[in-house]
Amino acid sequence: MIKTALFTFAAVLIGVVTASGVEEDRTGYTGSVACQTCHPEIYEAWTSSKHAGPFKPEQETSRVCSGCHTTGISPAQQSPMENSVGCEACHGSGKEHISSEGEIKLLKSNSADICGRCHNGNQSGDDIAWMTEYGPGMRLSDIKGLKLIPVSPDKTPPYFEDIHPSLTYNMWLSSGHAKTPDRNIDVRGNKWEGPITCTACHNSHGSANPSQLVMKAEEVCKSCHSLQVAVLKGFGAKGIEETRSLHTAAPCVSCHMTEKNHLMKMLRPDDPALSESRLDSCSACHEIKDRKMRTDQLRDMEAWYDEAMEPVQEELKIVEEKLKENPDILTAAQKTKLEDVKANLSIIINDGSNGVHNLDYALETMYLAKRDLKEIITAME
Ligand code: HEC
Ligand code: HEC
Ligand code: HEC
Ligand code: HEC
Ligand code: HEC
Ligand code: HEC
Ligand code: HEC
Ligand code: HEC
Repeated sequence: MIKTALFTFAAVLIGVVTASGVEEDRTGYTGSVACQTCHPEIYEAWTSSKHAGPFKPEQETSRVCSGCHTTGISPAQQSPMENSVGCEACHGSGKEHISSEGEIKLLKSNSADICGRCHNGNQSGDDIAWMTEYGPGMRLSDIKGLKLIPVSPDKTPPYFEDIHPSLTYNMWLSSGHAKTPDRNIDVRGNKWEGPITCTACHNSHGSANPSQLVMKAEEVCKSCHSLQVAVLKGFGAKGIEETRSLHTAAPCVSCHMTEKNHLMKMLRPDDPALSESRLDSCSACHEIKDRKMRTDQLRDMEAWYDEAMEPVQEELKIVEEKLKENPDILTAAQKTKLEDVKANLSIIINDGSNGVHNLDYALETMYLAKRDLKEIITAME
């Protein structure tokens, strides 16, 4: 489907050229080498990245591919300024910036749309004027004619091996990371504003880590998700000894980014939409690839969690109601105990994995809560 769309795109572009006959001015582009003198370190990093290409397309398809694989292309010209994803593909044409020695600024932004212009999957068909309409700094949603393939956050992450390019931006857009967090986030020592975009995890210019990551894949998630890290390691809850799980050392990405999906969603073994030919996240790592067995194990974990959580919530409700009737019924020590119970439970609940990250730890926490709540209820009678 996508292949067809790309070929139509070529036809349309050539159509534009012959119909208008306008030679568009491309002289604002300088090529990446021109940036080297003043930004040597960034240039160095970029040279080692896959963006630095060069792109070697087949002759007849090269026009179709240029929009994403080269820099400084315009409808009127047959060859791009630079045969790779150069500095100006993300920053915009640099001539004036250079001649003003940096006085005239170029775009510098963490917006995911800069990357999403190329790292998307779309079904724009022949209505693909968006490619030449786009300029750095634009929002993809404002580009007429760009129809991104929608990804549902509630469904199985799509498996589009045949679709080129992969749906990275589309998946990201539906993930929790595309929402602005309701609290301040600190990213590598800097205040981060807005959604967790591509550059929160990837180095735009290049990196010694695979996939241009700012740190190794098994570390990058931990740099923000301290709550889940604590639960996987089994520490933080008051009165509970450190309780490791068999998955304490399992990298977050093994469960959440199977097939490198950017929805950050586990491929659950009990997902009816998961085809036989795809491995679920559990089987992808375990030597025994038995989906039925993994389904039972996962469901058991979740069932044990629910069974323990329900009575605790009931008891907590009873305590809260009695407290409403008689706020001074508890001693100071009992009040502290109640606060600890609530804090412990909020760790387990906010973790969001319903016990899967560390079942033993979640169960221990809930047993302790149950015991303490019973004591408090008895004291209230
Ligand atoms: C003649 C030197 C020179 C050249 C060549 C040059 N730059 Fe710059 N660039 C600067 C200076 C100076 C600054 C401003 C540094 C500052 O304000 O901290 C700058 C800043 C930038 C910034 C940050 C803008 C901001 O808002 O903070 C970007 C992005 C940038 N340059 C990209 C490029 C690109 C891409 C090229 C090649 C097309 C390039 N530069 C070539 C001198 C240069
Ligand atoms: C794939 C997109 C991409 C490419 C290619 C790219 N940049 Fe950037 N660059 C960014 C983004 C996004 C930022 C701002 C966020 C960040 O620092 O990661 C940035 C930041 C910068 C800055 C500001 C750095 C700072 O610390 O304030 C400069 C200067 C810069 N780029 C120059 C260049 C030069 C020179 C090249 C080519 C050798 C280049 N960029 C290639 C995306 C890119
Ligand atoms: C002009 C189009 C374009 C833009 C803009 C762009 N990319 Fe890319 N990106 C590509 C292409 C094309 C490749 C594949 C290059 C190859 O493998 O030959 C690629 C590859 C990558 C890879 C794979 C690297 C690897 O080592 O496997 C990462 C990660 C990546 N891009 C991240 C980004 C991020 C982050 C941004 C935004 C800051 C961005 N890209 C902006 C076109 C683009
Ligand atoms: C809409 C933007 C876009 C278009 C158009 C496009 N590509 Fe790509 N291409 C990418 C991106 C982004 C990547 C990086 C991998 C990914 O995310 O799928 C990539 C990766 C590649 C790779 C490296 C694959 C790998 O696994 O390392 C090749 C080869 C390639 N493209 C060839 C082509 C050819 C040939 C065409 C024209 C028929 C084309 N591309 C059109 C965006 C595009
Ligand atoms: C929360 C962190 C995070 C965010 C946000 C993120 N990525 Fe990634 N990305 C990763 C990790 C981790 C990997 C490597 C996964 C692995 O190796 O299992 C990766 C892999 C990739 C790859 C390589 C895929 C391949 O098949 O080789 C590309 C391309 C990419 N990301 C582009 C992007 C783009 C574009 C965005 C923004 C739209 C983005 N990423 C947002 C963490 C992130
Ligand atoms: C730069 C910080 C940062 C990094 C790095 C990061 N995350 Fe997140 N993540 C967040 C924020 C902020 C949210 C939004 C929810 C919130 O406020 O806690 C979030 C949400 C999520 C959610 C969805 C939760 C929901 O409520 O929908 C998952 C799953 C997730 N992240 C997994 C990961 C994985 C896996 C990685 C590593 C590849 C990762 N994150 C890397 C900050 C980050
Ligand atoms: C053994 C597999 C596994 C590992 C390892 C794992 N997770 Fe999870 N995680 C899950 C499951 C299962 C859920 C429940 C949601 C679901 O079914 O998709 C979940 C839920 C979450 C949520 C809440 C999602 C939501 O929608 O509210 C976040 C955030 C999260 N995990 C982050 C992480 C981080 C960060 C790491 C690494 C420190 C990690 N996970 C390691 C399996 C795992
Ligand atoms: C990063 C790889 C990885 C992933 C992903 C993973 N596991 Fe594990 N799992 C392990 C390791 C390592 C152990 C401990 C050694 C062992 O017993 O094999 C383990 C142990 C277990 C055990 C206890 C021992 C056993 O085999 O009976 C169960 C049950 C289990 N995993 C189920 C799951 C389920 C269900 C999922 C998906 C939600 C999952 N695992 C995802 C690596 C993984």
